[in-house]
Amino acid sequence: MAIQQFKFFCLITSIVIYIIIITTLRAPGINKSVPKPWGPPRICPVHFSEQTITPLNNTKHLLVSAYMDQRVNGLDIRIIGIFRRDSIQPLHCFFCCVDHLSRTRIPATILQHSDNFGFPFVTTDVMCQIPQNCKATHVTLLPQSEKVISPEQIWLPIRNQKTNGKEKRKLQFNFTVCISNLFGDYNNVLQFAQTLEMYRLLGVDRVVIYNTSCSPDLSRLLQSYSQEGFVEMVPWPIDQHLNPSRGWLHSKHGGDLHYFGQLTTLNECIYRSMDRSRYVLLNDIDEIIMPYQHNGLMPLMNMLKQQHPNVGCF
Ligand SMILES: *[C@@H]1O[C@H](CO)[C@@H](O)[C@H](O)[C@H]1NC(C)=O
Ligand SMILES: *[C@@H]1O[C@H](CO)[C@@H](O)[C@H](O)[C@H]1NC(C)=O
Ligand SMILES: *[C@@H]1O[C@H](CO)[C@@H](O)[C@H](O)[C@H]1NC(C)=O
Repeated sequence: MAIQQFKFFCLITSIVIYIIIITTLRAPGINKSVPKPWGPPRICPVHFSEQTITPLNNTKHLLVSAYMDQRVNGLDIRIIGIFRRDSIQPLHCFFCCVDHLSRTRIPATILQHSDNFGFPFVTTDVMCQIPQNCKATHVTLLPQSEKVISPEQIWLPIRNQKTNGKEKRKLQFNFTVCISNLFGDYNNVLQFAQTLEMYRLLGVDRVVIYNTSCSPDLSRLLQSYSQEGFVEMVPWPIDQHLNPSRGWLHSKHGGDLHYFGQLTTLNECIYRSMDRSRYVLLNDIDEIIMPYQHNGLMPLMNMLKQQHPNVGCF
């Protein structure tokens, strides 16, 4: 049943097209060629999360990553998290700006995903507006009841920052494949090698894999692909924070979270790829999308794009 549900999810196997809106909003001339420093500015507190999963202090929630996402007016930052549904409280965003720590409390919009399958934890997007006069670099959340940012507070770097808009950013990849979660002692090394090589032949440039655990043999294979740059391993130690379910339905399989947090990782992968990949493919390692009239995915997409100019998701 779990497999079936998973397959169903994967059947919708979506090729998501990102129409990247590369805007040149910034006034030209200012800070011209200085790339934004990625490291934490001195002025802000010192604790920056380097984990994929960061517990949010004084709550039961987990934060995953923060992305610039200015497609909707008034919502600038999307923080992807895993929230406990029965303990959701009002939250405020705080921002670390390039040259100062903003003291403005920004009320957060908390959007729980509808797919919770009865589990106590659910994928959640927290949206916040950036305060005025702030070139935001890092963000953190505090429950409304807390007024002061503790020096121990953990901050998330904001990814997908628009660089100075002049030269159009070139997309690094045509195709990214997102493989959700590796867990258990998964050990089908040959299947992985076969699928990865097939993806490569079809024109995939990057495969992102969320790794909770795998067998030593598979780990060696993935390490060598990741040294080469074809595979991007994202640590996903969800089992250190929750009791993740191996199944898809809480009433049947128990546990805290649907399928090791698969919906969270797939969402995370989409935003991770947004600024750098033309197409994103969500599918399982035992599935290959095989064009039968084209010799690769790119020619297939070129045809589909012509046939359906207004479609972004197949
Ligand atoms: C968590 O909150 C407690 C109480 O406010 C504080 O003492 C502690 O330093 C905080 N830890 C982090 C990591 O923010
Ligand atoms: C993407 O595909 C086009 C052909 O459609 C090719 O010219 C280009 O080099 C590819 N880009 C990358 C990053 O592979
Ligand atoms: C996958 O995760 C396990 C458990 O954290 C780790 O031991 C292993 O090195 C990881 N493998 C890769 C290729 O990242």
